[in-house]
Amino acid sequence: MAGFTDHPFRLMCRRFGADYAVSEMISAKAMTFGDRKTAELSALPQGDSPCALQIFGHEPESMAQAAAMLASGGFDGCSYAEKPAAIDINMGCPVKKIVTSGDGSALMKDADLCRRIVSAVCEATEPYGVPVTVKIRAGWDERHKNAAEIARACAAGGASAVTVHARTKEQMYAPGIDLDAVKSVRQALPDSVAVVGNGDVSCYEDAVRMLEYTECDGIMIGRAALGDPWVFDEIKAAFEGRDFVAPDTAFRVGAARRFVADIAGVYGEEAGVRMSRGRAAHFIKGIRGAAEVRSRLNSARTLEEFDAALDMLL
Ligand SMILES: Cc1cc2nc3c(=O)[nH]c(=O)nc-3n(C[C@H](O)[C@H](O)[C@H](O)COP(=O)(O)O)c2cc1C
Repeated sequence: MAGFTDHPFRLMCRRFGADYAVSEMISAKAMTFGDRKTAELSALPQGDSPCALQIFGHEPESMAQAAAMLASGGFDGCSYAEKPAAIDINMGCPVKKIVTSGDGSALMKDADLCRRIVSAVCEATEPYGVPVTVKIRAGWDERHKNAAEIARACAAGGASAVTVHARTKEQMYAPGIDLDAVKSVRQALPDSVAVVGNGDVSCYEDAVRMLEYTECDGIMIGRAALGDPWVFDEIKAAFEGRDFVAPDTAFRVGAARRFVADIAGVYGEEAGVRMSRGRAAHFIKGIRGAAEVRSRLNSARTLEEFDAALDMLL
C-alpha cells in the first residue's frame, strides 16, 4: 500500500506472521529516469524476504526496462540485502492521477496491452530468475467486470500469479467485495498460475469465506494490517488450531513505540516522527483516550515526545 508498506512496516508484519509482502508501487518511468527517491522504494533490507517489488506504468518498453533494473539490482541507489521475490505489475490502482495517465486499473481496459506488458516484463526479468506477478481488480465498473479475461491475458504473457482485489475500479475501496470475481479468475487459469484473493479480509472467518468460496490459493491482506499487524498471526493461529491472545493496550503501545523507533532508525528522528504520526494512530484506535493521544502525536517532534504521548494510554 502506497504510503504505508515500506520496509519497516513489512518487517513488522513478518514478525507478526505475514508470509509474503509486496512493496509500495514504484513508477517504472521514474525508475528509468534514474530518480533516486523512486529507487529508495525498492530497498530490501535483511529479513525482508520474500518480497515482490511492484511497478506501475503502461508502456511495455519502460515497464520492461524498470523490471530488469529492479530484478538485477543494477541501478543507482540500489540497496538490496535480499533478492526481490517477484516483479509485481499494478493493474488495480484506481487513483485519478494514475488512471488518467493510462496506468493502474486503466490497463484493464485493454487485455492485449496487459498481455504485452507482462510478456515484455517476463522477458526482461527471466535472465535474473525473478518471476512476474500481477495485481488486478474485478474490472473497471459494474458493466465491465473482466477480471477473468485480463487474468488470462496476463497468464498468456507469462505471469506466475494473479492477485484479485474483488472490487471494480469505480468502487474504489467500498462497498463490499464480489467473491465471484476471484472465483472467475481461479476458474479461468491453469493450476500452475496461483490466484490470490484480496479485499476486506480482517479475520479468520473472512479468510475461510474467501478460500472456500473462490478456491483461491492464498490471501492478501491490506488495510486490516495497518492497525492490527498481528492479524496475520491471528488468522494463521485459527487455521493451525493454536490459541491467539488478542493484544492488550500495553502490547499495542509497545508495538507502536517499536514501529516509530524503526521508522526513525531508517529515515532519521525528525522525518521518522513526522511520518509516523498517522501510522502510529492506527495502532491505538479504539483504546480509551486515543483521541487525545492522537492530537499529541500530531504535534510531537521528537521520539521522546512521541513516547510521552503514548505513555498517556498506559
Ligand atoms: C492507502 C492505500 C494504498 C494502496 N496502495 C496500493 C499499491 O501501491 N499497490 C496495490 O497493488 N494496491 C494498493 N492498495 C490496494 C490494497 O493493496 C488492497 O488491494 C485494497 O486495500 C483491498 O484490500 P484490503 O481490504 O485488505 O485493504 C492500496 C490501498 C490503500 C488503502
